[in-house]
Amino acid sequence: MARTTLESWMKAQSIPAPLARIFAMTADCGIEISVALRVATASGQNGKAGSVNVQGEEQKALDIVANDIFLRRGAASGVLSAMVSEELEDIWPVEAAGPDARYALVFDPLDGSSNLEVNGAVGSIFSVLDIGKAAGVTKEDVLQTGTQQVAAGYILYGPATVLVLTTGESVTMFGLDEVAAEFVLVEDGVQIPVEANEFAINMSRYHQWYAPTRGFIEDCLSGKDGPLGKPYNMRWCAAMVADLHRILCRGGVFLYPEDEGTKARGGRLRLMYEANPMSLIVEAAGGAASTGTTRVLSIEPSDLHQRVGIIIGSRAEVETACQYYADRARPYP
Ligand code: F6P
Ligand code: MN
Repeated sequence: MARTTLESWMKAQSIPAPLARIFAMTADCGIEISVALRVATASGQNGKAGSVNVQGEEQKALDIVANDIFLRRGAASGVLSAMVSEELEDIWPVEAAGPDARYALVFDPLDGSSNLEVNGAVGSIFSVLDIGKAAGVTKEDVLQTGTQQVAAGYILYGPATVLVLTTGESVTMFGLDEVAAEFVLVEDGVQIPVEANEFAINMSRYHQWYAPTRGFIEDCLSGKDGPLGKPYNMRWCAAMVADLHRILCRGGVFLYPEDEGTKARGGRLRLMYEANPMSLIVEAAGGAASTGTTRVLSIEPSDLHQRVGIIIGSRAEVETACQYYADRARPYP
């Protein structure tokens, strides 16, 4: 089979030049972060700020290393006028952005970073917004609904490094050829199985869940003879990218719904950096994403770091889970 690189795939798909520049830049970030993670693990670094490397030098936390890689490469891309990171309080304007700069990259540089302590999978997530201007980007420019995203993607740093991209219509998966230091096409037109029998949730929050979440998970646990009529398996990676990559490959449903413990903040995961880009990818692969009552991509954001409850994955599984929200008495969002 002929080998298709990210670059040749973008040419064949006629990806517009600025977007191709952003995809190539995020791919380079993925390669650099991948190496940084492997080197850190080999030298006994676990990603904690203040830890000391083999040369006795104090280390930056790996999520800051990853953030710096995105900022440096994004600023040099020539097409971004702003970068918006989960690691930064405010918008990071790209100084002296060129005349073609009209996009913002909204990103979570290192998702699931608690896994670094145990050499578990982590990821990067990003969303591309068309801001339409090269300077003076404001919060109002960036607070767009998920449906307005021009593109989104993630990089999973697992046994292999994988890049998944969407422009909102279809989903394409690439794998990192570490020898050639380039991403190679694995699958075009990725589709999530409509139905599955696997769920992903942090079960330790059971006592804090709202009634609809309890109802759904209890019915999943009751197996073949229960109301859902099939046995469910459970997986939890503690890194959204890793859990959703599994769901993209073989189906299932991921839940981090708002609960009693997260209601003051509106949920756990971040709308702009995590929920929106992942929802664009999952919907483009035929899946669905909801808060339980509202389509994630239709939420009007009011804050850069806004959090949200999310139920995302195989379409029929998400619909089934949401039915519990429709059927049960409130209070819940
Ligand atoms: O970014 C937040 C995050 O690390 C997600 O990647 C992951 O799904 C979740 O938090 C893990 O949450 P918990 O600590 O409850 O397992
Ligand atoms: Mn994250």
